[in-house]
Amino acid sequence: MTDVQLVELRVNGERHDLAISPRRTLADVLRHDLGLTGTHVGCEHGICGACTVLVDDQPARACLLFAVQVENSQIRTVESLAGPDGELSDLQQCFSDHHGLQCGFCTPGFLMLAEGYLAEEPDASREEIREVVASNLCRCTGYQTIVDAVDDCASRRRAVLQAALDTERTAGSTA
Ligand code: FES
Ligand code: FES
Repeated sequence: MTDVQLVELRVNGERHDLAISPRRTLADVLRHDLGLTGTHVGCEHGICGACTVLVDDQPARACLLFAVQVENSQIRTVESLAGPDGELSDLQQCFSDHHGLQCGFCTPGFLMLAEGYLAEEPDASREEIREVVASNLCRCTGYQTIVDAVDDCASRRRAVLQAALDTERTAGSTA
């Protein structure tokens, strides 16, 4: 029996053909085979959430998945957030504005957790955000600033959406 399997992974919109052991975790493949070291590895037991990525838009622990399991999925890592010239996404900017990080080790996991959550729950309340971020571990911030950052990002996205709707409505009424 061979211990190498050919897999095709789609990560951050790019296709990668890899020959890997079926026992290799998604976290290890992202970091060591694809060089996407933004995905951090802490506990390797599904506890800390530092390795959180999006699998078909859902936050998932990359240390608990074998890469071969996600062959037909779209994977997004923290590297997908910034713009082409390195400009921060709105979520990253909110983490910066609210000091939602100190050492930064946990940050990629929190960013991807929040990115997936806000896409699904754009009207999330502060209490709901607090509950969701409790699934990842941070030893530095005390969580308050992370909740502030995610809550602010949710508000900013709602404001952008509302402004777009208002513009559309105004254009419709003057047509
Ligand atoms: S490294 Fe995956 S949950 Fe901790
Ligand atoms: S900022 Fe250090 S562990 Fe969260």
